Amino acid sequence: MGRIDQETVQRILDAADIVDVVSDFVSLKRRGANYIGLCPFHNERTPSFSVSKSKGICKCFSCGKGGSAVNFIMQLEQMSYQEALRYLAKKYNIEIKERELTDKERETASEREALFAVNEFALNHFEHNLLETTEGVNVGLAYFRERGLSDAMIKKFRLGYSLDKRDDLLQEALKKGYREENLLTTGLIGRSEKGEFYDRFRGRVIYPVFSISGKVVAFGGRILRKDKPGGKYVNSPESVIYSKSRELYGLYQAKPAIVKKNKCIMVEGYMDVISMHQSGIENVVASSGTSLTEGQIRLLHRFTDNVTVIYDSDAAGIKASLRGIDMLLAEGLNVKVLQLPEGDDPDSFAQNHSSSEVEAYLEKNEVDFVKFKMNILLDGVGDDPIKWSRVTSDIVRSIAVIPDDISRNAYIKECCYALGVDEKILLNEVGKSRVAIREQEFKRQQQDKTRAAHATVPEAVSGSETPEVQQEKSTDGQDAEYIVSADLRKNTDRSAILEPFEKQVLRYVLKYGMLTLFDEEEDGISQPVNVMDFVESEMAADEIRFTVPAYGRLFSMALALRDRFMQDYSSARDRAMQKRSEAWTSGEEKIRSEATGMDDIIQREKHLTEECEEIMNQYMHDFAQNYVERILSSSDDDEARTITAELVMEKHQLSKIHTKFAHVESEQEQLGQLLPRALFELKNAILLCDINDLQDELKKEYSSQSPDGERIMDIMNGLGRMLQLRAEFAKRMGERVVTPGVSKVRSRRI
Ligand code: UTP
Ligand code: MN
Repeated sequence: MGRIDQETVQRILDAADIVDVVSDFVSLKRRGANYIGLCPFHNERTPSFSVSKSKGICKCFSCGKGGSAVNFIMQLEQMSYQEALRYLAKKYNIEIKERELTDKERETASEREALFAVNEFALNHFEHNLLETTEGVNVGLAYFRERGLSDAMIKKFRLGYSLDKRDDLLQEALKKGYREENLLTTGLIGRSEKGEFYDRFRGRVIYPVFSISGKVVAFGGRILRKDKPGGKYVNSPESVIYSKSRELYGLYQAKPAIVKKNKCIMVEGYMDVISMHQSGIENVVASSGTSLTEGQIRLLHRFTDNVTVIYDSDAAGIKASLRGIDMLLAEGLNVKVLQLPEGDDPDSFAQNHSSSEVEAYLEKNEVDFVKFKMNILLDGVGDDPIKWSRVTSDIVRSIAVIPDDISRNAYIKECCYALGVDEKILLNEVGKSRVAIREQEFKRQQQDKTRAAHATVPEAVSGSETPEVQQEKSTDGQDAEYIVSADLRKNTDRSAILEPFEKQVLRYVLKYGMLTLFDEEEDGISQPVNVMDFVESEMAADEIRFTVPAYGRLFSMALALRDRFMQDYSSARDRAMQKRSEAWTSGEEKIRSEATGMDDIIQREKHLTEECEEIMNQYMHDFAQNYVERILSSSDDDEARTITAELVMEKHQLSKIHTKFAHVESEQEQLGQLLPRALFELKNAILLCDINDLQDELKKEYSSQSPDGERIMDIMNGLGRMLQLRAEFAKRMGERVVTPGVSKVRSRRI
């Protein structure tokens, strides 16, 4: 490949539209002047990747990656500058006039580039074999035909055939100037013990695997004759351009349909994907026979929140794959599962039914995962209480990993109903499980940190401590220092565990702080209580505060905005009234010119009055709703700005969860339930931390050289109180939910 001349470079850069370029990899939603989506560079569940069309740049304000369209492609696809330009040129049909490579340039072309080139060659070669050689047509093409594939699908998935010869591909590649070492690295050829090279794929039909940008990264070759020994498939080995756990077969072809339908169907095999496509269902990808990996799930999550997993009907496979579902849930995806009729796989089902039949079957038979998991696990449990409770806790664990509050709560409701368990109990269990998950996560992080620290010890030790630190040490003395740091460790442990719970509460404050939650009667006067007031009084009542320092600070900053809000409120109201009167004037004009008679005028004016009221209410509502976030997200305080931006970013639009009992409303509509629940979860987590601490102390006291009986009694009493508190707490939970009747969130009355 040659170099691209400057003029062409400029044309490419001019043509590249950042929104368009990014959209090929990330599902973007409009948000004001910008677009947002899930960052493709790091794992996240709420979008922080922002794209500015006018500025032509994108940026993740969580991990900081991004830049111009070229930068984006370079980073995401691990391409060189030249490769990225070529990619864009191809996308925008800009012709690049190639200049012949000098030997030196040929050599320095990056390895990745060379590997992709080799694969691209092989792709064309296999395709040529299939369609244009006698053996290919008679054997390979005949096989695909027999399996019912149309020419269109064969072309779309670029299917191919490898001739049944020792080194057909190798010879052809060498002739064209490709190098043995690159053929070896991509696994297209192997080397025998005698040192001879041979083709890896021989006498097989070929399924190429594409990356999401459409580059061929690997091949799967299927054997055609059953009598031959060895596995059914031979697959390309992992290489710098192919990591099996990070690709999903068919994603490249399925991408547009996944985005359009906002849903992805997950199957197992190559043929399943292709046959489904052929039947008109194109939002299908395959995990390629292995269990799902986090990388694959993340890849998928960039395009949709909704996944339906299709299972063949064999029960063993299903049980094994339940873990995969939990991983999908933990990534914040809404998961449904579908079982096919006995004896069918997606391939056979799609081949034997019309596309509308397949659609209808999907529609009718997908069930959400709770139901599915319960059905499977409850099978054969009978009345055995031990088994029963094991099943319950298994399901609780699945629910607990769901990051989104609304879906988690909807599932809890449904599960209560199905298992006949009291909601409070289940809430409690899920809460406990979440604390446990968080603890594990935290431990893992600590271990990673320790490991990292050990790895860099030599540098860290070399006298880099500042004078102040040293001084502090010398005045503190040995024992004191030990106690201080132990105490500190305990506190940071605790706030690490509480962090997500505090974050959730703070998020509601930042996002909805000034919205009225309900009205409180006091001396016959009704007073609006807003989200912020509620959180403040709830936390004060139980004497708790935010343990994450930054959250505490942000909370005070938010509280401090209340006075300012009252001042700004009246000018916002003036503006709202202005809007109302404008709407009224233009409405009146319309009525005057269109009305047909007196009755009509009265009717229309009544309607207009309502409309104008609505406009004004909406304006004030928006004003109140965005107040806190608007001010803090542009505050000159770095930390406040960053955290606010992170927390208030629109969550994914939750698609309908099919539960009979939990009608899923928007977060705002459900605030009357969600907020008290978030507070409850926080308090519950604090209580669990307290209990843990006391239990630790008790253990320590018992195992000490000379246990102090009195101290032990003290601790036990303390523990008793805590446990009692926890029981009461669970009971009180029901009352703490602001009753639905008064929970509708309204802006302050005007
Ligand atoms: P299947 O055995 O279901 O394959 O394995 P299939 O693609 O449906 O093939 P047909 O219908 O027999 O033609 C599912 C997937 O597991 C991987 C492949 O990705 C396959 O598509 N697999 C299976 C292998 O990689 N190697 C094997 O030996 C078998
Ligand atoms: Mn199959």
